[in-house]
Amino acid sequence: MTTILVTGGAGYIGSHACKVLKQAGYTPVTYDNLVTGWQDAVKFGPFEQGDLSDADRLDAVFAKHKPAAIMHFAALSQVGDSMKDPGTYWRNNVLGSLTLIEAAIRANCLDFVFSSTCATYGEQDGVVLDETAMQAPINAYGASKRAIEDMLNNFGASHGLRSVIFRYFNVAGADPEGEVGEFHRPETHLIPLMLDAIDGKRPALTIFGTDYDTPDGTCIRDYVHVMDLVEAHLLGVKWLEQGKPNRVFNLGTGTGFSVRQVVASSANVTNRDVPMTEGPRRPGDATALVSGSNRAANELGWSPSRSTMPQMIADAWRWHQSGHYDQ
Ligand code: UFG
Repeated sequence: MTTILVTGGAGYIGSHACKVLKQAGYTPVTYDNLVTGWQDAVKFGPFEQGDLSDADRLDAVFAKHKPAAIMHFAALSQVGDSMKDPGTYWRNNVLGSLTLIEAAIRANCLDFVFSSTCATYGEQDGVVLDETAMQAPINAYGASKRAIEDMLNNFGASHGLRSVIFRYFNVAGADPEGEVGEFHRPETHLIPLMLDAIDGKRPALTIFGTDYDTPDGTCIRDYVHVMDLVEAHLLGVKWLEQGKPNRVFNLGTGTGFSVRQVVASSANVTNRDVPMTEGPRRPGDATALVSGSNRAANELGWSPSRSTMPQMIADAWRWHQSGHYDQ
């Protein structure tokens, strides 16, 4: 069986990726430092605890498992945090990825699927966000991911590293079979925080900013189901296996939802009120981020099937109610 090294395989998206990799006949080896991941989420293949910054440990893991490709999810990913502590983001995400890439090259493991973000586009009023849009991140998180994209391109030219880069829009939902789901510590994402407020685990959801230049004054995002997202990663591995060229793909549905629309949909799906208050803007938040590209559908054959807002909330709610990872 072909082995794939999955950095961040104990995290939200990485654990779902391991599930689909295993279902597709691969062996996913999780490499994770468990700072934000959970060992309980490593269910689909071997686990190797380690840090991205630990070159010796990475060398040992490459030598032991001989992966054919890497899916690189491990990263700090909170926009707000990245504005308060950019150094930690640059060190962990950028230096960590450099250490990983150099270890991969030493091991001659040259197929690389990378988890990037629409946050690399920044704030671009009226611009269609397809893969050719200018990248002008407005937060340190997005800047760190853009730097890694550059790094992959540089090592592609110098060492033949082959990459598929996915720029995610907002990932939501959970494995419908309930084996893995969304969890972050601390939680900062809209949908899980809202579900917490709905069932009384938090007093209320705070809407960050109601004076944006949008129809209802709240930020607009493009939400994609985590299962659809990881299916795209599988297609990315196959793309590289087939010797196709380095490529960047947006992963979003092309439909934007405001924070208030997400709140309304959650109230509908759960049939409960959403306790909420209105607060100031969160530094680093762009007004609207919606994918303007069909490249993943046209070229990879990606067809997201669960990425409707009610489906994402229903799957997230089922996971939420299962009590996994409650602290
Ligand atoms: N929001 C609130 N209240 C909250 C939490 C979030 O109003 O308590 C708002 C945010 O201001 C934003 C929207 O809900 O407008 C979504 O916020 P999230 O924190 O759920 O997601 P982000 O858009 O900040 O970031 C996420 C990922 C990033 C990724 C980005 C792309 O965390 O990794 O999507 O948009 F880059």
